[in-house]
Amino acid sequence: MATDEQVQRLIEAAVEARKWAYAPYSNYQVGAALLASSGKVYTGVNIENAAYPDTTCAERVAIFKAVSEGEKEFEVIAVVTGNGGFPCGSCRQVMAEFGKETEVIIANDEGKIITKTRVKELLPGSFGQEYLKA
Ligand code: THU
Repeated sequence: MATDEQVQRLIEAAVEARKWAYAPYSNYQVGAALLASSGKVYTGVNIENAAYPDTTCAERVAIFKAVSEGEKEFEVIAVVTGNGGFPCGSCRQVMAEFGKETEVIIANDEGKIITKTRVKELLPGSFGQEYLKA
């Protein structure tokens, strides 16, 4: 369980990161900050593309950055948008891959917490590695 101070710092990191969102098509900027069990924080922003489906969400950018540096366990992810938007289904599935207990903090651009939840609440009945084992 993350402390209030850790959560606050993550939200601030996500607010700060959101400035780097590349969202010229939707104009909907998203920032994410992920606290790994190692204690390191990884940030992400949405990165859009003129070929719209090639866009990647902020949450997945943060998770992929972390995994590409050897992390696989996460305590909390903070997601910041202008209006408290929730993570999309694809991001929920990617979050579930690395832990259903991970806390998900949804906040607005003023840093106000809209919702505190967990991956397992956002994506009940997710498809996971248990179905792929012989
Ligand atoms: N977006 C995210 O970054 N995360 C989500 O979970 C939902 C959507 C981005 C994708 C796109 O750049 C913009 O928000 C509008 O869909």
